[in-house]
Amino acid sequence: MASGGCRYTYDEYKETADWLLAHCRIHPKIAVICGSGLGGLAELLSDRIVFPYQQIPHFPQSTVSGHAGRLVFGELGGKQCVCMQGRFHFYEGYPINKVTFPIRVFHLMGIEALIVTNAAGGLNEQFNVGDIMFIRDHINMPGFGGQNPLCGSNEERFGPRFPCMSDAYDGTFRQMAVNSAVELGYQDFVREGVYCMLAGPSYETIAESRMLKILGADAVGMSTVPEVVLARHCGMRVFGISLITNKVVTEYGSPEKANHEEVLQTAKVRAEALQTLVSNLVGRMD
Ligand code: HPA
Repeated sequence: MASGGCRYTYDEYKETADWLLAHCRIHPKIAVICGSGLGGLAELLSDRIVFPYQQIPHFPQSTVSGHAGRLVFGELGGKQCVCMQGRFHFYEGYPINKVTFPIRVFHLMGIEALIVTNAAGGLNEQFNVGDIMFIRDHINMPGFGGQNPLCGSNEERFGPRFPCMSDAYDGTFRQMAVNSAVELGYQDFVREGVYCMLAGPSYETIAESRMLKILGADAVGMSTVPEVVLARHCGMRVFGISLITNKVVTEYGSPEKANHEEVLQTAKVRAEALQTLVSNLVGRMD
């Protein structure tokens, strides 16, 4: 690893990509990142080839419960794809470049489309626990504080110094996902909105939750945004999906308290619908 222990060289990304291409007969164009409690998606793949992260050169390890820590190649919705079963979070203590390491590896492997999933707290009053939110846009709160994975010298072989983010989430993919939701009869619990990333791991205070609502966030979580920024930098098309696992508390004196068990429990209840939706969407991608 290069300077400061938190930057990778182009050659390191390339070594990992070449290793995976050499060890796997499947060379997909679609990658899926499974969020908290949503790793079951990877189990749906047929003809699977599995690589625990420990086996893959330079790959970080996953430490949080609800995340398995392996790369699964196979077929979903009739398309070849690769799933990250377990992602890396900033709150685990990883430098932001480690969190996003797999994205550039995917790019060098020929991945063109990225599907990101996460568990998130609902801020929008209209949202219910168990809703599925298609991400229209994001607020990169750690980025405001200098934790953007693109900070530092720019590697032109991946993308430009100042990448545009006004079209971070692909509108065509989102429309395709709406079509999937209609076909599956999921309209009643499918929403669209803005995802805000906080570093975590502590949940929001009431004052913070109120602030996020005023800023225009519909859902809040602790992941996804760094990966999306890096994916857009190297030209991947992105579709993002948040499972609303809890309502964020915005009233003092409320008996509700955010907790990881509730997040995992809701994920369990809605995981199957979310997986079916992603599978249907992947089937529509060309
Ligand atoms: N806040 C932040 N992250 C989360 C939440 C939440 O309420 N729920 C799931 N991830």
